[in-house]
Amino acid sequence: MGAGHSPDWTIPQDHGHFTPGEHQTWTTLYERQAALLPGRACQPFLDGLDQLDLKGAGIPRFDDLNERLGALTGWKVVAVPGLVPDEVFFEHLANRRFPSGNFIRRPDQLDYLQEPDVFHDVFGHVPMLTDPVFADYMQAYGRGGLRALGLGRLHNLARLYWYTVEFGLLQTAQGLRIYGAGILSSSSESVYCLEDPRPTRIDFDLERVMRTPYRIDDLQDRYFKIESLQQLLDATAGQDFGPLYERLAVLPDLVI
Ligand code: PHE
Ligand code: FE
Repeated sequence: MGAGHSPDWTIPQDHGHFTPGEHQTWTTLYERQAALLPGRACQPFLDGLDQLDLKGAGIPRFDDLNERLGALTGWKVVAVPGLVPDEVFFEHLANRRFPSGNFIRRPDQLDYLQEPDVFHDVFGHVPMLTDPVFADYMQAYGRGGLRALGLGRLHNLARLYWYTVEFGLLQTAQGLRIYGAGILSSSSESVYCLEDPRPTRIDFDLERVMRTPYRIDDLQDRYFKIESLQQLLDATAGQDFGPLYERLAVLPDLVI
């Protein structure tokens, strides 16, 4: 490990280092998504967005955000330089800390970038952390990640994160809604995932999710739908993945 970062990889947000142009990028992205998401994002996300008051004047101050978030579910956001090692990431989640990249995309990357920036991490992920059930799911996922690492099954568990936390859809009485952060921070995918005929939308099935590879460089070919956040929590935190991991060791991946 090099000098210059602490063992948990957190750094001060140093809110003053963002330029006016960078704050404008946040506001541009925020306004675009805020216009698209009513009727598309799930209610817990929209409520969280309101309660956290993320609009402000550009990139939120984590101190202010954490006061509101902490009072709701005990989660907090911590700044990190970018992607962190798996065990560091899981350790944060297991302790109700969500690591956020401390940079924002360039103006020529408004529509797409592969590395998670503060807009994806904070706008996409943090509103869902105001929901008590989802907040528990994310913490349990952190513990589960540490366990999967030790068992050599992280590639299977990572698919659960991908198809839920990043690209999950929620079936509601009013219609299909988005709860995945990878969608919520992307204007094109927010429309595509619900309205385009091409992707398949499959009922959530834990084993199937864990056997299904994903692509990180394009709109998704498939989404998994849950019936409720409680269903997701029960199917994961409420289960011992040990026997499932043993089965997965001898089962092939699924292509569709
Ligand atoms: N219950 C899982 C296990 O036994 C841990 C987990 C919980 C994983 C929630 C993901 C989400 O490993
Ligand atoms: Fe993410």
